[in-house]
Amino acid sequence: MTVHSEEGEEKSPARRRSRRYIPNLAEFYFTPAYDWKIDEAKSLYDAREAVSQDIALNTVLYEDCIEGMRKLPEGSIDLVIADPPFGIDFDGKSSVYNRDERLVVEDYEEVNGSYAEFTNRWISELPRVLKEEGSVYIFSGWTNLEPVLSNAREAGLSTLNHIVWHYPFGVFTKRRFVTSHYHVLLLVKNPKSYFFNKIEHYPEDVWPVKRTYRAGEVKNSTKLPLEVVKRCIEFSSKPGDLVLDPFMGNGTTAVAAKSSWRHFLGYEINERLKPVIDSEVSSVKLGECYTPYATRLPTIDELAEAYPNAYREYIRREKEEKR
Ligand SMILES: C[S@@+](CC[C@H](N)C(=O)[O-])C[C@H]1O[C@@H](n2cnc3c(N)ncnc32)[C@H](O)[C@@H]1O
Repeated sequence: MTVHSEEGEEKSPARRRSRRYIPNLAEFYFTPAYDWKIDEAKSLYDAREAVSQDIALNTVLYEDCIEGMRKLPEGSIDLVIADPPFGIDFDGKSSVYNRDERLVVEDYEEVNGSYAEFTNRWISELPRVLKEEGSVYIFSGWTNLEPVLSNAREAGLSTLNHIVWHYPFGVFTKRRFVTSHYHVLLLVKNPKSYFFNKIEHYPEDVWPVKRTYRAGEVKNSTKLPLEVVKRCIEFSSKPGDLVLDPFMGNGTTAVAAKSSWRHFLGYEINERLKPVIDSEVSSVKLGECYTPYATRLPTIDELAEAYPNAYREYIRREKEEKR
C-alpha cells in the first residue's frame, strides 16, 4: 500500500526529493482521518450506554445547567456545544430583529448579575464532565468574548481554534460597522490527545453560513443554523458519542446529534421551550443526515475541472505508480 502524506506525496524520501510541489495536488489524495459506513455508524450508536441510571441518553432536562452538570458522572461527555445567553438586555422581540414577536417564546432567560461570574460557574463544570479526549465549542458575540476566553483558560481548557462564523446580515447601524459574525471557540481538555476528524482537505476557520429565519414558526428568540452545529459535531465527535448542550434553546444541537448518529443530553432553564424542542427533535429521523465523509468529497472529475494542472500531474503519478 502506498502511504500518502498531507501533501499527497509518497513517503519514500528518494521519491519525495525528485518531486516538485504542485498546488492543489494534495486534494486528489485526501481522505478523511476517520470514516464510518452507515451500518457501522448505527452499530456505534446502538452500543452506547447511558451515563448513569438516573440520566437517560437523548434527554433534555429543564433545569439550570450548572446544577444539572454537577450531577453528571466524571468523564461522561465526548463533546460540549454551548451557546450561552448573550448577557445583554435581549428578549429577541425588538423591532430591529425583524420578527413577529407573537412567535417568539416567552421568558428568554438572561443572566442575572455578573456575566463573568455566570460564565465562570458554567465553564468550570466542563473539564470534570468531559472525557480526556473531549472537546468544547463555545459560541460568543464579541462583547462577551473576554470573560469566555479568560474563564476557559482558568478552567484549564486549551484553545485550538478561534473560528469566525460569518453571516451575511446584521442589525442596521448608523455610526459603526454592522456586526455580522460570531466567535466559535474550539477548546480541548488535553491538547496532546483530543479527537479531531479532518473530514475536509482544507477546513478554514471562517465559516460563511446564513442565519436561519423560518418565517411563521414558533421559536426561542435565538437559533443557530443546523449547518454550523453539524460542522462542530462532525469534526469533533464519532458516531455513538454523547454531545452535551448546556443551553438547549430550540434544540438545534439535539437535532444535529440525532440526525448524525450521535446521542445528546441537554439543559434548558425555560420550560416553555419544551414543545418547541420536542417538535424539532421529532421532525428528524435518526441518522438521516449522515453519509460517510468520503462520499462528500469532490470527485476526481470535479477536481480535474477545478485544477487542470494538478490533474495532469495526478494522472502522471498514478501511471508511474502502476508501472
Ligand atoms: C442563546 S440561547 C441557545 C439557542 C440554541 N443554541 C439554539 O440554536 O436554539 C440560550 C438559551 O439558554 C437558556 N438558559 C439561560 N440560562 C440557563 C441556565 N442557567 N441553564 C440552562 N439554560 C439556560 C435560555 O433560556 C436560552 O434558551
